[in-house]
Amino acid sequence: MDIISDITEMQNRCLAARAAGRKIAFVPTMGFLHEGHLSLLREGRKRGELLVLSIFVNPTQFGQGEDLDSYPRDLARDERLARDCAVDLLFYPAAAAIYPPDYATFVNVDGPLTATLEGACRPGHFRGVATVVAKLFVIVQPHVALFGCKDFQQLAVVQRMTADLNLPVEIVGMPIVRETDGLAMSSRNVYLSADERRQALSLARALAHGRQLAADGVRESGAVLTALQAMIEAQPAARIDYLRICHRATLQEQERIDADSVLLLAVFFGKPRLIDNGPLLDQAKPC
Ligand code: PAJ
Repeated sequence: MDIISDITEMQNRCLAARAAGRKIAFVPTMGFLHEGHLSLLREGRKRGELLVLSIFVNPTQFGQGEDLDSYPRDLARDERLARDCAVDLLFYPAAAAIYPPDYATFVNVDGPLTATLEGACRPGHFRGVATVVAKLFVIVQPHVALFGCKDFQQLAVVQRMTADLNLPVEIVGMPIVRETDGLAMSSRNVYLSADERRQALSLARALAHGRQLAADGVRESGAVLTALQAMIEAQPAARIDYLRICHRATLQEQERIDADSVLLLAVFFGKPRLIDNGPLLDQAKPC
């Protein structure tokens, strides 16, 4: 595995691989890798001949007062895990190289997809995500890029951007990887105290209960949301940012549950903010 920080070198390596007819699979991350990231790398290994991992804590997707400075980092450990997944190229650029002082170009995915949920709670977040993903696609030139359903709305935004800009990249969504007790894996889970982590299990319990209510025939979103809100708010450290039932493609709220319904939530446990989601009726698609 080669570790490359220089943008031009990275682009040249990828352009050469493309010219040689090698299929490039790409997994963009912010590092501090866990099993969720590794599941994307393993799938990427199967789908591509050149497997590229990027590690870049992207400043433009963090809002004021968010955790950019304290975002967990451990390159030595990430390097080991990447080697174990047979990554060919690890791209590790500096922030000043991705965003030099005169940097002025941003990608904005407008409309209802980004006006809601994470987009509403974290203004500018998806502008930062779309911008860096577009830049990474131009640098890495992937045939296929893998994203987790853990960030359900992010995946939808990346799909929209890729289609709108006619980027020749296949976007693959991968299922959420969870701890054995149900907590969705996240680099941010390390922020949780033991007590907050225990309380955070209410999210997976709420998702399971929502699925159960839907399976029992409940179709009124309001009834399900009221029940789940009570479950989560029974945890003293929990503060709900949003808890919604939305259509999987449009992300617009649904009053009635159907096969396209996804439950999406963002909840603070003390300082850490966790997101999770899952389908209510149709478990067949990963997201
Ligand atoms: P990061 O949070 O590091 O996540 C990188 C990728 O791993 C994303 O596609 C995310 O959805 C996926 N992922 C995270 N936790 C997962 C889990 N438990 N199961 C399955 N997949 C999981 O998302 C980002 O970085 C950034 O926004 C990025 C796309 C790299 C742009 O900066």
